[in-house]
Amino acid sequence: MRSYHITGPGGLKSLTEVQADEPEIGPFDVLVEMKAWSMNYRDLAMPYGGYVGNDKVKRNPPMVPLSDGSGEVVAVGKSVDRFKVGDRVAGAFFQKWLDGELTAEQIGSALGGAIDGVLAERVAFHQDGLVSIPKTYSFEQAATLPCAAVTAWQALTLGNPRPGQTVLMLGTGGVSVFALQFAKAFGMRTIITSSSDEKLERARQLGADITINYREHADWERVVVEQTDGIGVDNVIEVGGAGTFEKSIASAKVSGRVSLIGVLTGNPDQNPSPMMALFKRLTVQGIYVGSRAMFEAMNRAIEVNQLRPVIDTQFSFDDVPAAYEHLKSAKHFGKIVITR
Ligand SMILES: NC(=O)c1ccc[n+]([C@@H]2O[C@H](COP(=O)([O-])OP(=O)(O)OC[C@H]3O[C@@H](n4cnc5c(N)ncnc54)[C@H](OP(=O)(O)O)[C@@H]3O)[C@@H](O)[C@H]2O)c1
Repeated sequence: MRSYHITGPGGLKSLTEVQADEPEIGPFDVLVEMKAWSMNYRDLAMPYGGYVGNDKVKRNPPMVPLSDGSGEVVAVGKSVDRFKVGDRVAGAFFQKWLDGELTAEQIGSALGGAIDGVLAERVAFHQDGLVSIPKTYSFEQAATLPCAAVTAWQALTLGNPRPGQTVLMLGTGGVSVFALQFAKAFGMRTIITSSSDEKLERARQLGADITINYREHADWERVVVEQTDGIGVDNVIEVGGAGTFEKSIASAKVSGRVSLIGVLTGNPDQNPSPMMALFKRLTVQGIYVGSRAMFEAMNRAIEVNQLRPVIDTQFSFDDVPAAYEHLKSAKHFGKIVITR
């Protein structure tokens, strides 16, 4: 069957299409005919050696890339009782984080990072590592959910979102656009930043209440505070990292929350000051995607609220290198999808 491998930490040229062996399934495994995949910023880091610690690309290459994909069940092991042939499913980002608090062992089960990912025609999953996809979703729509959407869901729901609260999103990538859509469904007031006025217009069409071009306003945190009557926001969806952390702290209200998610900007060795987090009594919460239970709760909310993911561009399986280049260009708004 066709698959892609990252042969080692050699940059995008280490991404190679290969003929791989058909996966074998054990008694508790489910064989999925993959129909669609989606890309996340993290997928760009893997060909360069991954983020931290134990990504397989560094430890034991080659590695199958991508955490996110959806497809149809085509075979089940003899002890499988959660799924049957014909079911429409997606892989959970952490194959072993089913519910409760994340443990060190479960971190080692991240698809397309600690373990092989899903960019292959067929993938065998343990039945516990799969969720049913929303009934009204196409495979392409469902493929957008496992990483970016679950991350946005966890970041918002841990903050006990209430109607009338204000949430700030940075940029218009996958996580931020999902957070915007979920925040609107929770009845929240939304502020979003972008480098592009065109993307901000698209964000307004999705319901963004206040939009700020962070290129035009290098001091965007001041605009956020002004626009909230000097108070600041309840929750910041902090995808920027070292380059935006202090501004996100400045944007949060006293006793508010900063959901630490990303590493898009700044030097990771830079030491932004956490002092104001202390004086403002902020909750600064690290967010690492989410559990299977969070994924399932999110899918229920998606169905009830009839939310649809924003797909920027679709590439074919033949054009995976072009999908990586598009992700790298950061021209997208929302999600980039790969289809069969
Ligand atoms: N902790 C976790 O579990 C987790 C899960 C998912 C993602 N992440 C991280 O979250 C970040 C976003 O991931 P993603 O997949 O959503 O990325 P993405 O789809 O590639 O989004 C990239 C977008 O980020 C925006 N951006 C870049 N620099 C920015 C800056 N200085 N200020 C504000 N926005 C900026 C740009 O938006 P504009 O074009 O609108 O300017 C860019 O298009 C990444 O660092 C990723 O590693 C972490």
